[in-house]
Amino acid sequence: MDQIVVTGNGPLKGEIPIAGAKNACLTLMPATLLTDAPLTLTNAPRLSDIKTMKALLESLGAEVQALQDGKVLVMASHDLTSRRADYDIVRKMRASILVLGPLLARYGDAEVSLPGGCAIGARPVDLHLRGLEALGATLDLRDGYVHAKAPGGLKGAEFEFPLVSVGATENVLMAATLAKGTSVLKNVAREPEIVDLARCLRRMGADIEGEGTDTIVVHGVAALGGATHPVVADRIELGTYLLAPAIAGGEVECVGGSRDLIAAFADKLEEAGVEITQTNRGVKAAHKTGRIKAVDVTTQPFPGFPTDLQAQMMALMCTAEGTSVLEETIFENRFMHAPELTRMGARIEVSGGTARVTGVDRLKGAPVMATDLRASVSLILAGLAAEGETVVNRVYHLDRGYESVEDKLSACGARIERMRAA
Ligand code: EPZ
Repeated sequence: MDQIVVTGNGPLKGEIPIAGAKNACLTLMPATLLTDAPLTLTNAPRLSDIKTMKALLESLGAEVQALQDGKVLVMASHDLTSRRADYDIVRKMRASILVLGPLLARYGDAEVSLPGGCAIGARPVDLHLRGLEALGATLDLRDGYVHAKAPGGLKGAEFEFPLVSVGATENVLMAATLAKGTSVLKNVAREPEIVDLARCLRRMGADIEGEGTDTIVVHGVAALGGATHPVVADRIELGTYLLAPAIAGGEVECVGGSRDLIAAFADKLEEAGVEITQTNRGVKAAHKTGRIKAVDVTTQPFPGFPTDLQAQMMALMCTAEGTSVLEETIFENRFMHAPELTRMGARIEVSGGTARVTGVDRLKGAPVMATDLRASVSLILAGLAAEGETVVNRVYHLDRGYESVEDKLSACGARIERMRAA
C-alpha cells in the first residue's frame, strides 16, 4: 500500500486550487437516474469515491463518460439494465444508498444493499427509509437488501426528519421531485451540498423551494430533463488546506473556495489567531507570528462547525497554547486520529464524544496509521510542523476524498512525497 512521507519544513507559501465537492458530486451523480436525458457535471473532483459511484451507475446500465481527465462527467440513464445495487459496491461506499430514491421515483422499484457501518460509526439508514415510506414506498428488508416498491409512483407528503441527516435529506429530496403532488420536508439538512443538489435538480426542471433552510417544499413534476451543472467547491478540502499554514506557519491562498461555505470553521480559526481573508479568487489563511491559541469546538450540522473538519482542527490544537475541548456530536466514533496524534507526542484525553487536547511545543514525526478519510489528512497536517519524518500508512483512505494532496502541499513548500507500494 502507498505511504505518504511528510517532513516538517517550516512555513508554507503559495496557492492551492480547491476541487469540486466530493459530497456534492456523490449525490449529483445518482440524480442522472431521475431522467433519460443527459446530465453533465463540470468541476467534478478526481477521487476514488467518484470512480466507485461511476462503477455503481454503470452496473445499473447508466452511461458515465469521464472527460477532461475526470473533471467533466457526462451521464445518461435512458436504458437501465438493472435496478439492483450490489453489496460488493455498496459496502465500499455508503453514499451508494443515494441511488435508492432516484430509482424508486423513476421506476417504482429498486433493490439496494444496506451499506453497513464504517470506521466512524454504525451509520444506519433508517431515516432514508422512513422518508421514502412517507412518500408512499413499501420497503421490505431481507437478505441485507432494501427491496423498495412504489408501483403507482410516489405521492407527495409532509415528513419531519427526527434528526438532521444529510444523506436522508438528499435521498428523499431527489425522490420527491417526481412524486405526484407536493412534499413538505422538515428538519432537513442545510449543508451547501444540499443547496447544490437543489440547484441542479431545478436546472433539470424540478420545482423546489427552501433549500438551505430547515424546510424544503417540492412540487412534483411528471418528468425531469437534462442539465449541465458545476459542482460546488469542496468546503472540507478548503478548510483542510486553510489549516496547513495555521499549523506550519506562512500563508496559503485556496483558490476556488469562499468563506461563507466554512463560516463557523473560519470564525474558530480566527479565534485561534489565524488571519483569514476572502480574496477575489478564494480564501487566504496566514499565521506568521505568535503561537496559536487553544479554542473549544463542538461539531454541529451546517451552519455549525463541520464534523468533517474536527480531526483536522484537532491537529492544530495539538501545538496550541492552552487546552482545547473538542465535542463530536454527529458520529459516535470519530476520534481514531487521537491515538495516532498521541504517537507524535500530542497530549489528548478522549472520553466518549469529548477530546481534551493540551498543546505541546512541537510534535515529533512518527510512523502513523490512517483509519478514515479525514483522520488520514489530519495526520499529514500534523506532520507538516512536526520535528522529523512522519510516515502515514493506508493512504487509500486519503485518496477517497483528496486529489493529489502531496502535489498541492509541495507546491506551497511542504516536504511531502508519496512512496508507491511495490
Ligand atoms: C454525510 O454523511 C457525509 N457524506 C459525511 O462525510 C458527513 O460527515 C455527514 O454527512 C455529516 O455532515 C456524504 O455526503 C457522502 P448523516 P451521511 O446522515 O449522510 C445518523 C466525509 O468524510 N443517521 O448526516 O451519512 C448518522 O449515524 C463523510 O466526507 C441515522 O441515525 O451523514 C449520524 O450519526 C464522512 N439514520 C448522523 O445521523 C439515518 O438514516 C448524521 O449522519 C441517517 C443518519
